Amino acid sequence: MNDLLIQPFQLAWATGALSHGPLIRKTTLLGDLSAIFTDGDATQLFPDRPAYAVDMFDTPGGEGELYVGVTHLYPGKVGDEYFMTRGHFHQRREQGEVYFGLQGEGLLLMQNQQGQAWTEPVFAGSVHIIPGYTAHRLINTGSQTLSALAVWPSTAGHDYTSLPHGFALRVIEKAGKVRIMAVKHG
Ligand code: PA5
Ligand code: NI
Repeated sequence: MNDLLIQPFQLAWATGALSHGPLIRKTTLLGDLSAIFTDGDATQLFPDRPAYAVDMFDTPGGEGELYVGVTHLYPGKVGDEYFMTRGHFHQRREQGEVYFGLQGEGLLLMQNQQGQAWTEPVFAGSVHIIPGYTAHRLINTGSQTLSALAVWPSTAGHDYTSLPHGFALRVIEKAGKVRIMAVKHG
């Protein structure tokens, strides 16, 4: 055994499958997401259906350390709204993140603390630099699984509660087309 040569963890770029390292998987079910969809009640028709799974290498956290994970967001809609992740700011607001599109088609929705929101298309090979102070959510607008690799500071944390009105944009299918709509509040 030569401990000068350590075998690396591995990622299958085409599918997002992680291997050769200790893994944690967290699956989020449609039934957990009723609060984020316009027609939230419709999530209760299939509450046990997985909406997305996040695989990450189980590595030590701490100041300066990075986590690496892959989100697999399944295709589907709740009413006319495409499946999406819950979305979050980081608890450590100043900390950013990088997403890399691996497979499928979708959008990365970002929103700053002033409430300005925008999207970037996600596809195999896309690179997304999420600045600090910016909430982020993946949306699957395609018919295949959307998979994206993420690298983020282990100290970032997730804050799911600081978007009291949700994101300012919604992504729906209308007449067979992807439409990005501004949300009207009040
Ligand atoms: O670190 C990230 O931003 C991702 O790994 C997300 O946590 C993942 O996509 C799941 O989204 P959420 O945490 O909003 O449920
Ligand atoms: Ni994040």
